[in-house]
Amino acid sequence: MTDSSSAPKPVANARKRIMAGMRPTGKLHVGHLLGALNTFVDLSRRHDCYFEVADLHALTTKFERSDEIAADTRTMVMGWLAAGLDPEQCTIYVQSRIPEISELYTLLSMVVPVSWLERVPTYKDQIGELGSEIATHGFLGYPVLQTVDIAIMRGQGVPVGQDQLPHLELSREIVRRFNHHYGTVLLEPEAILSETPYVPGTDGRKMSKSYDNGLMLAETDDETLTRIKTMYTDPTKIHKTDPGHPEACPVFFFQTAFNPSMAPDIAHRCRAGKLGCVEDKADMARHLNAALAPLRERLRAIAAKPRFVDEILADGTKKARATAQATLAQVKAAMGLSG
Ligand code: TRP
Repeated sequence: MTDSSSAPKPVANARKRIMAGMRPTGKLHVGHLLGALNTFVDLSRRHDCYFEVADLHALTTKFERSDEIAADTRTMVMGWLAAGLDPEQCTIYVQSRIPEISELYTLLSMVVPVSWLERVPTYKDQIGELGSEIATHGFLGYPVLQTVDIAIMRGQGVPVGQDQLPHLELSREIVRRFNHHYGTVLLEPEAILSETPYVPGTDGRKMSKSYDNGLMLAETDDETLTRIKTMYTDPTKIHKTDPGHPEACPVFFFQTAFNPSMAPDIAHRCRAGKLGCVEDKADMARHLNAALAPLRERLRAIAAKPRFVDEILADGTKKARATAQATLAQVKAAMGLSG
């Protein structure tokens, strides 16, 4: 008989500390759900998860509208809870309310060469997109702050989309360099790649608040249907009888996500010129609305008691802060700064 208790457990099943952050963008859309939140919920059932409202990160590009961040934080956390995050099972907290994060950021920044930060792909891309006004010291330090978020909570796994992989690789390099100087005090985090990294918006570009192309969680069924009716579809399919290309169509993307058992048939009828876009959109909207119904119900219940969110954030932040204080104390001791 084999003794299964002594067999090494596969790493994937061992309980790990997971850390993930999201900038407070206010209302959440289906892209957040498929790209991140569903993964957060799944991980929170199996691991020790820390989920952070990255409001300092929001300030890197939004310093002129800092007064919106508090309301956006509350709105976003309501979306997290509606999506199924259970505050009894995970720690939900606000970055700016943990001063130890800013302190470790100062310490860590001493060992990070500027050239490492300048070569992060999103750095130049974002400046190209948002303009040189955001080329601040704080914005350049974005990946250092993200490294602190993970390291201070002792995060081992970090759920990220494909676009965040360079940030995580940089985090590992920063941690290695820090440990090289001061001894092994920080953990090198690993990426947990999300399965649906790219969610298209109504215009076919990536779903994003800044493009105003989102299907929102906090919308009525009719509002969602109206948005879907304006959704971009294959421009070469003008009439129902024209052959479509579902693989490049956002309507089909959501059929795959929310009506998976029918997706192969839908693709077939679309290609064969037997399914028109108008009918396809109405059908997709029905499935999407049905899938979101329980979430929207929870959102209404949570919105009716706003103090609830404040309490969750106060409790979660208290717990996360204790973790941060312990890590910072170790770091300062390793650097010879304590006492
Ligand atoms: N940069 C991440 C994003 O834009 C947000 C973030 C902040 C984060 N801190 C983090 C993600 C720590 C993972 C781990 O989505």
